[in-house]
Amino acid sequence: MRIGILGAGGMAGALGTQWAGAGHEIMISGRDAAATAVRAARMAGGVRAGSWAEAAAFGEVVVVAVREAGLVDVLTACGGALRGKPLVDVTNAADPSAYDPARSPALLIGGLSGGHVVKAFNLCHVDVWRMTPPVFGGRPLAVPLCGDDPAALAAARTLVSDLGCTPLDGGGLARVTQLEATAAFMIGLWFGGADAQAVLPPLHRSGAHGVRPGA
Ligand SMILES: NC(=O)c1ccc[n+]([C@@H]2O[C@H](COP(=O)([O-])OP(=O)(O)OC[C@H]3O[C@@H](n4cnc5c(N)ncnc54)[C@H](OP(=O)(O)O)[C@@H]3O)[C@@H](O)[C@H]2O)c1
Repeated sequence: MRIGILGAGGMAGALGTQWAGAGHEIMISGRDAAATAVRAARMAGGVRAGSWAEAAAFGEVVVVAVREAGLVDVLTACGGALRGKPLVDVTNAADPSAYDPARSPALLIGGLSGGHVVKAFNLCHVDVWRMTPPVFGGRPLAVPLCGDDPAALAAARTLVSDLGCTPLDGGGLARVTQLEATAAFMIGLWFGGADAQAVLPPLHRSGAHGVRPGA
């Protein structure tokens, strides 16, 4: 599929390279046309470079991978091109310790663009998205998705699978602030040097919520 990426930084480069390798057509975008073209040329797979509006128009799916500080300007520059489109939002709060659900990036993106937002890929560091594939202890990484629109969720599931990861139903947009807050909390643990993976038990030790006892 054609994937427009709003952003030309680390996340755009990591994810765009993987998806180009999986056969998708990619256009990244940034504030400076020359610098964005250089970054696109460094990515394998014939990745294109464009303006914010060009990437928004190019994508059948558009991935939002810009810093929180730039969201309003970038989405404004896209005009009406994102209305009704699947939007995959990878953003996190600029300062995780100050995450405020009243200023959710995903809800801001949906409100400003009129697109169908699916939150994804925000829980792991960019280096994880460069892994081919991201597998830890023999287990493929699971990627929770929060969104309401079936077509947008289907597109996001494809993009997760194309990285060699497992898509996980994280619930509707009503839960998106929980996913954003989880990222903020986990980033705080990692920055403090903790192994965040160690804080949760395996499924069979997580209570009997639909799980066979002893399974
Ligand atoms: N890095 C990670 O480990 C990671 C992991 C998960 C999620 N995220 C989230 O993904 C998003 C992108 O992260 P990244 O690591 O790709 O960042 P990055 O390498 O710093 O790239 C940021 C992108 O945002 C654009 N941008 C637009 N307006 C901006 C402004 N006012 N200030 C700064 N940048 C602006 C930049 O444009 P130019 O190209 O013109 O500079 C650039 O393309 C962020 O929301 C981040 O929280 C990051």
